[in-house]
Amino acid sequence: MTSGAEAYIGLMSGTSMDGIDAVLVRLDPAPRILQTHQHPWPESLRAQLRRAAAGEPMSTAGLARLDSLAGEVFAEAAAVLAGAYPGRIRAIGSHGQTLAHAPGDRPGHSLQIGNPAIIAERTGITTVADFRRRDIAAGGQGAPLVPAFHAATLRHPGENRVILNIGGIANISVLPADPAAPVTGFDTGPGNCLMDAWMLASHGEAYDSDGRFAAAGRIHPELLQTLLSDPYFAAPAPKSTGTDYFSPAWLQERLAAHPGVAPEDVQATLLALSARSIAEAIRRLSLRTQRVLVCGGGVHNPELMTALSEALDCPVESTATAGMDPDWVEAAAFAWLARQTLLGRPGNLPDVTGARGPRVLGAIHPSDGGI
Ligand SMILES: Nc1ncnc2c1ncn2[C@@H]1O[C@H](COP(=O)(O)OP(=O)(O)O)[C@@H](O)[C@H]1O
Ligand SMILES: [Mg+2]
Repeated sequence: MTSGAEAYIGLMSGTSMDGIDAVLVRLDPAPRILQTHQHPWPESLRAQLRRAAAGEPMSTAGLARLDSLAGEVFAEAAAVLAGAYPGRIRAIGSHGQTLAHAPGDRPGHSLQIGNPAIIAERTGITTVADFRRRDIAAGGQGAPLVPAFHAATLRHPGENRVILNIGGIANISVLPADPAAPVTGFDTGPGNCLMDAWMLASHGEAYDSDGRFAAAGRIHPELLQTLLSDPYFAAPAPKSTGTDYFSPAWLQERLAAHPGVAPEDVQATLLALSARSIAEAIRRLSLRTQRVLVCGGGVHNPELMTALSEALDCPVESTATAGMDPDWVEAAAFAWLARQTLLGRPGNLPDVTGARGPRVLGAIHPSDGGI
């Protein structure tokens, strides 16, 4: 890093809760990843977060405590990177851990925990957090928020691109080659979350490594039809969803209508559900997609990547081919969003979230306590 250059830390833990992605990036003139760190959730805390995200009842005091416990772990994750660059980090952008996301309720709401005051206090670095709430207050979905970053870094004047992030939930950013055309995007539905949930239920494992369990099964056409008939898939954008909707309970209710499907066939069908719902969302776009660039953990599932390629008639590749490591794009986006906030620039795209207008997102917790 050249002297005087500013670096930012992005902290992201998605709905998969596979760990905290921490990334140190330089954003000017173009994003460059300087260092990365995957920080594990302590097992007991992860279990509590999972229960809370699944909507299990919990006391108010318990929730407040969980918020601070998670904040300490996010701070630890940031400190690992900050230690390598003392005094050189402008800010941390922390997404937090989503426990609830219902922007369409009245009133709309979304809750990310991981007390950012603790992150600022422990690291001594200005921390920006709580990015989704302002967009929701302005009538938006509060999600997805990464398209503005995708547009700033992965848009290409020579081709219409879709950036596909396959985390627990899958979301797309639509980047037209025409610079005058608006960037759009939305959550397409489940990415890995249902496959992960089924793997946990049937094997006690966090995910289906390389899609091998799915590959051992066969798609059950009637079950797939039942799953695809959920109204979320056909609903128009703007839209966003979460694992509180596409939950293990959602799956169990639908499996009840198809008793006796072999476990590996369920997994194969869930993989097909993700691939087809994503492909269908991309095919329905008004512009002709020329390339799909994939990031997020789903890019490591070769069965899913093959199913996507088969369902789409354009190249489907990792964002690595465009110079961005697919495992760190989302965390880098929150570093970028923190910078937007500090510069007084909007982080949302109203064409994506449906908000009434562009908004500066997040709450700023100054490094020195504001003194
Ligand atoms: N080798 C792999 N094979 C299959 N799935 C994988 C592999 N590596 C990662 N994944 C999937 O990626 C998920 C994590 O993706 P991630 O982008 O971190 O999601 P989130 O943003 O929800 O945390 C895992 O839960 C798993 O489903
Ligand atoms: Mg993750």
